Amino acid sequence: MDMILEGKAFVNGSFEHCCIGISNGKILSIKKILKGDQHLIFKNKLLLPAAIDIHVHFRDPGMTAKEDFATGSLAAAYGGTSCVCDMPNTLPATTTIQDIIKKKTLANRKSFVDFGVYAGITDANSNSLSSLAQHCNGFKIYLGSSTNALLLPPNKLMDVFYQASKVKKPLFIHAEDESCLLNHKKVEHTLADHLQGRPAVCEEQAIQKILTASSSFLTPIHICHLSSCEGLELLKKRPTHITCGVTPHHTLLNAEQHFPSQSCYKVNPPLRTRLDKESLFDALAHDTIDILESDHAPHTLEEKQQEFDAAPSGVPGVETMVPLFLYLTKKQQLSFQQMTSLLCARPGEILAVPKGKLQPGYDADIMVVDLKKETKITADMLHSKCGWTPFEKFPAIFPLHLFIRGEKLIEDREIQVSRGFGQYIGE
Ligand code: DOR
Ligand code: ZN
Repeated sequence: MDMILEGKAFVNGSFEHCCIGISNGKILSIKKILKGDQHLIFKNKLLLPAAIDIHVHFRDPGMTAKEDFATGSLAAAYGGTSCVCDMPNTLPATTTIQDIIKKKTLANRKSFVDFGVYAGITDANSNSLSSLAQHCNGFKIYLGSSTNALLLPPNKLMDVFYQASKVKKPLFIHAEDESCLLNHKKVEHTLADHLQGRPAVCEEQAIQKILTASSSFLTPIHICHLSSCEGLELLKKRPTHITCGVTPHHTLLNAEQHFPSQSCYKVNPPLRTRLDKESLFDALAHDTIDILESDHAPHTLEEKQQEFDAAPSGVPGVETMVPLFLYLTKKQQLSFQQMTSLLCARPGEILAVPKGKLQPGYDADIMVVDLKKETKITADMLHSKCGWTPFEKFPAIFPLHLFIRGEKLIEDREIQVSRGFGQYIGE
């Protein structure tokens, strides 16, 4: 065995003091006592699976003043995330095989953590899922306009679901209905206006269209960033091949709060009411939601400080997601079973990768956590290029160390590897 990590590990739903044996980057066995070349003992610290963030916008290529694959993935690592999947709304958008390959090449050179990429599906490439599938980890569909978003007309959904069912790659959908958004469009000055311009009924209509169009296919479909009680109600009765995720911002923030800047909190789908926020958090704690996803969408402060209507939508969050929820788990708002399922195990299952569980055969992606190490989040401790956070002063617990494929990536909050350590998670 190359290495043994010994500590209080979360294995099969509970904590036990044990040894995790690692060989060739994989967990080989988990036992009370194991011997290996290197033996690291973490006493009473927690050994948890590292998180997988299936939803980030790293802006590379084309918008690297906001973020690039090196800074975005470094932020992920410091936040306990060993694997990220990047959305296609870059410049150029990843809608062709050529541009997907280019993004994978640059990510291979720059990424600190393991990564996947999605192909964006638009009217123009909506017949090409089978050829795109070999080069990506899934497909992203926007049913409503958003910052730099691509669009797919809803009448194409059935055909796209049919093609996806043949290639067995997941579809990730931004569920806000474009015709509904256009009906509600208005000049916006505040978060309240933004919410009126993108009401819950538009999410509800999009989800209804997805449920109807997908009813004869068993292809995996993930509804991204669920944001409303109405959407949640519809998804409570979803079939098992449909999964859904929520973001930290939709579960911890709402549009009625007093914020230092309104436009910083402008995001799509919008922050909604306190009731929406509380219902979504409650759904996390009652196993009605599959995963947490950050929807890390960095924009610079300069861009965000424009007039509300002109400011781009999106908030950063890849580095703060795990620390916020580690703290909330310590405070017993969620169980460790729920937290690790939402952040690690279920995202791994959705992507069909052997990551996200402390189990033999899985990648040795492990975070070491000291629950006593509570901090208050401040922008200056974070690693995204954008330089701000919507969670300023929120209590959090950042992991002390992070291992990816058995290699020590972060030790005592310091990065130990160079950019390019991260590997593509597909074939
Ligand atoms: O608020 C958002 N920002 N929603 C999206 O769908 C896109 C994202 C971005 O890329 O900035
Ligand atoms: Zn997104």
